[in-house]
Amino acid sequence: MSPTAPPARRLLHAPPVAASPFPYHPGSLLSASDLSLEGVSHILARATALENQDPLVRDRILAKRRVALLFYESSTRTRTSFELAAKGLGADTTLVSSLSSSIEKGETLKDTGLTLRALGAETIILRHNSSGAAWLLEAETRLPVLNAGDGMHEHPTQALLDLRTILAHLRPGVEAVTSETLAGVTVSIVGDILHSRVARSNMLLLPRLGARVLLCGPKELLPELAAQAGPGIAIERDFEAALRQSQAVMMLRIQAERLAGLQLDLDEYKANYQLTGLRLAAHAPAAIVMHPGPIIRGLEVTAGVADGPQSVILEQVRNGVAIRMAVVERALLATEPGGRA
Ligand code: CP
Repeated sequence: MSPTAPPARRLLHAPPVAASPFPYHPGSLLSASDLSLEGVSHILARATALENQDPLVRDRILAKRRVALLFYESSTRTRTSFELAAKGLGADTTLVSSLSSSIEKGETLKDTGLTLRALGAETIILRHNSSGAAWLLEAETRLPVLNAGDGMHEHPTQALLDLRTILAHLRPGVEAVTSETLAGVTVSIVGDILHSRVARSNMLLLPRLGARVLLCGPKELLPELAAQAGPGIAIERDFEAALRQSQAVMMLRIQAERLAGLQLDLDEYKANYQLTGLRLAAHAPAAIVMHPGPIIRGLEVTAGVADGPQSVILEQVRNGVAIRMAVVERALLATEPGGRA
């Protein structure tokens, strides 16, 4: 191409952007934006139904089906709850983690995925340190892939369990969600937004139900650009002002493993953004306090707040099992006659 060709002319002749082919499999869950509100409602309803079902009946739903958990990053909540969820439905599970597998010898994600498929895995639950890894794995294996967190990108089942927690407190009994369900609700997400896949998936989900999402944190961890992430999302740098507007406050840890050399003054951070009992009582005495975990006590939240009466952090953990039962069931029944996707 001639170096003098005008850029505008090139743009006029640019081909239209093709619609994304992802997810290839109707049972996959790669992004919170994969789901219609009807799909979200269905998962919420199945989570409740499965949670209440007799375990002896429930464990026949996916009896002997094969679920692989492929974890390249450490996890306590997500890994354990996915495993308990799959086992609770009767599936056989196997865990492959990067530290005790041929991944250590240099095997690629593609080859590991194809190997798991050849071994009979019918769905793969993937946590990976690279953003986009779940999309690559799905494209290469064409299996239903459940994104259990990809780098700084997304964590869709966390957003679903967070939604279930918010609904239980602010809209009790509601499972069939609409674009109005969370109208009038402000959820503040506070801390390291830049590196947070939890923040991103919640930003993709909550505004679609009518919630206002306020992002709060210092410039190093929350670029101005984030305010343009979508409708219903705004930045409020003043933590106490954000608290005063919030019915739910989602605190995030600083992701030390992704800071890439960024130096933060932690004393200044705590002075401005730590959720203390005094701040909570003064500015948001009725809000629920959420955290995806792991918590760094004494940094983003005090121990008193984490263990206090407004904390719903362990409810979030419990909701993980029910939501992941629904998502694993969807993954494996989506293509079958009578599948529920
Ligand atoms: N919330 C969350 O993803 O926690 P884990 O890293 O322990 O799975």
